[in-house]
Amino acid sequence: MEIISPSLNDYLEDLLPARLTVMQEMEKLAKDRNFPIIGPQVGRLLYQYTKLLGAKRVFEMGSGFGYSAYWFALALPEDGKVICTEAASNNIDLAEDYLKAAGLLHKVEFKKGDAIKILSQTAGPFDIILNDVDKNDYPRALETALPKLRVGGLLITDNALWHGRIVNNPQPDVYTQGVLAYNQLAMFAENLWTTILPVRDGLAVSLKLE
Ligand SMILES: C[S@@+](CC[C@H](N)C(=O)[O-])C[C@H]1O[C@@H](n2cnc3c(N)ncnc32)[C@H](O)[C@@H]1O
Repeated sequence: MEIISPSLNDYLEDLLPARLTVMQEMEKLAKDRNFPIIGPQVGRLLYQYTKLLGAKRVFEMGSGFGYSAYWFALALPEDGKVICTEAASNNIDLAEDYLKAAGLLHKVEFKKGDAIKILSQTAGPFDIILNDVDKNDYPRALETALPKLRVGGLLITDNALWHGRIVNNPQPDVYTQGVLAYNQLAMFAENLWTTILPVRDGLAVSLKLE
């Protein structure tokens, strides 16, 4: 299920300013391989939040071949850093090539392995944590991310509307169950103020309160 009508989505996509050449190549690769990336509408939001918060430290859970990291790196100051985590080494190789070509590799650090385990072993606090791991792991990702986020920081989770599978679904699979549980946890956690934005496939944006 599309979250917004295809014609409105086409309008929004057509309205976007042209992306830089390397970013366009990444978008083409994602399309050719049917690889899920956050896409330019969400990318622009990540850029905006990074600037709004004056973020310097960003942690990504599930970096793929570096598309979302590209948007963060673009927005971060010269002394800012995005720590990327990814299970597949071929994705990390691609990400390093792309970010090098974009002249942004100095703002990015890659760690191979399970994103949640790596985050639990990495010292915080972070200004922004992006969660884009396998959906069945979403509740565990939230639990691990919260103590690593600074007060006033953002936990941002992609696919919060999970292509509509979260509604009218009497037998949700483990991935859908993960998204459903995550949305409940994020919305009702005492120290989070969460809004789910119906952008692309839904983006849960949680502000960490005192
Ligand atoms: C949806 S893609 C991420 C795309 C990326 N955030 C972007 O928008 O450019 C999810 C990626 O996370 C990786 N992944 C999923 N679960 C993971 C985990 N627990 N630890 C590390 N990587 C994981 C997958 O291999 C895949 O490349």
